[in-house]
Amino acid sequence: MLNYRNKDWRNSMRLTLDYNYMMKKFIGADGFTDAELNEMKEAAADAFDYVADNRGKGMMGWTELPYNQDAIVEDILATAKAVRRKFKYFVVLGIGGSALGPIAVFNALCHLHYNDLAPSKRKGPKFYVEDNVDPERMAALLDVIEPEKTCFNVITKSGATSETMTQYLVINDILKKALGDKAAENIIATTDEKKGNLIKLVREFGYKAFVIPDGVGGRFSELCPVGLLPAAVLGIDIKEMLAGAKYMDGVCSKPSVSKNPALACAVLQIMAMKRGKNVGVMMPYADSLKLMADWYCQLWAESLGKNVTLDGKPCNVGQTPVKSLGVTDQHSQVQLYTEGPFDKVVTFLSVKDYRTVVEIPHGCEDIPDVSFLGGHTMNELIQAENKATAYALAKAGRQNYTIELPAVNAFTLGELMYLFELQTAYAGAMLNIDTFNQPGVEAGKQATYALLGKPGYEAKKQELDSAPAAEAKYQV
Ligand code: PA5
Repeated sequence: MLNYRNKDWRNSMRLTLDYNYMMKKFIGADGFTDAELNEMKEAAADAFDYVADNRGKGMMGWTELPYNQDAIVEDILATAKAVRRKFKYFVVLGIGGSALGPIAVFNALCHLHYNDLAPSKRKGPKFYVEDNVDPERMAALLDVIEPEKTCFNVITKSGATSETMTQYLVINDILKKALGDKAAENIIATTDEKKGNLIKLVREFGYKAFVIPDGVGGRFSELCPVGLLPAAVLGIDIKEMLAGAKYMDGVCSKPSVSKNPALACAVLQIMAMKRGKNVGVMMPYADSLKLMADWYCQLWAESLGKNVTLDGKPCNVGQTPVKSLGVTDQHSQVQLYTEGPFDKVVTFLSVKDYRTVVEIPHGCEDIPDVSFLGGHTMNELIQAENKATAYALAKAGRQNYTIELPAVNAFTLGELMYLFELQTAYAGAMLNIDTFNQPGVEAGKQATYALLGKPGYEAKKQELDSAPAAEAKYQV
């Protein structure tokens, strides 16, 4: 069987972009003309140059991840092998960019009922990602795992995130009670090499640790140990994933919209935003890509939602990403997309070859409304519904475009994630904002610290205490 080392196979796995339904010719008034697209040529080329010039620098270290991790990948593979041999469960403790990638890749590349499979049919331990501090969720996790047989991968770039460190405190306490001095063997840390508290704990307790490299922020970290270790533990071919990212980097090496799909997506979205399309729907027609939409939503929202430009001018930019699942949400949200406000762009993620074929048997011959389905496959049905929804939206004058994956595998996922990361970087450059910070998240974090009495946050606590009290007349 050919694989990613073969050029023809790689080319056969190339993602494609079809944006016909963004154009006036196909959808009418709300679409773009060729001339309007042409007007973006210079801005697109500038964004391309900005990203090319800053590759590997500052917070753009993620661009180099497909190229500079050979030794790390070997360490990850060896560690993953040992984890698979020793542990029955693997639990990621993390949140935001330290969790959404591992969740998305697990969902995309493992069996959709992975944890329910018999151990002989799984390639690794049962897998959970705890990305909340809901006490019921923690209690529920503890009901289904055996902590002493669990490897906990604590992932936090800052090493300071309260949610993750809370989870760590809870789990470490349980492990210490169960395993004493050996508790450290059940913890792997993934964090910054120098900053934060987790690295101090690594030094104190001797945890196995992986480094989140400088210049790789949370939401751009899936292709570093943040995502690679969980994926490797699950038996996913991480070299193939990185090869896919590298391939997409090559595909996106030209400064023109007609040749660079990431640049094309960024330009289309920016043009749409300028026309008040403030909602970006990400709609995969595959259950396996459902949580990839979640990962994308964080990337797009946290990167572009900003209130100041790079030269300090006030702005309020960004586009609200919404996840939607085909065909499920045809029966929930598509009514709104088709007839509601003209404020959305829909991105379809289509799959050419699903990993299985389910034939629809003949039956109900005397009920034509049902019998017509017989003899087709579920593959044909989901693809027809995908095509039909894109067409129906276009007929209703609604902009949409499609990214097609030839198949869902480690290579195409690497391609897709790298494409979205580049798209986000280009869009941020066109908006002239800092794509890689998240000051709006910090404000909430600091208020939480103050409420829980963290030293150093006394002034914030005072500020919160002196805020106007809630009025009863607004409470029902
Ligand atoms: O993208 C980001 O930077 C954030 O979403 C972070 O990933 C999130 O806040 C968690 O941060 P950390 O990895 O430092 O715990």
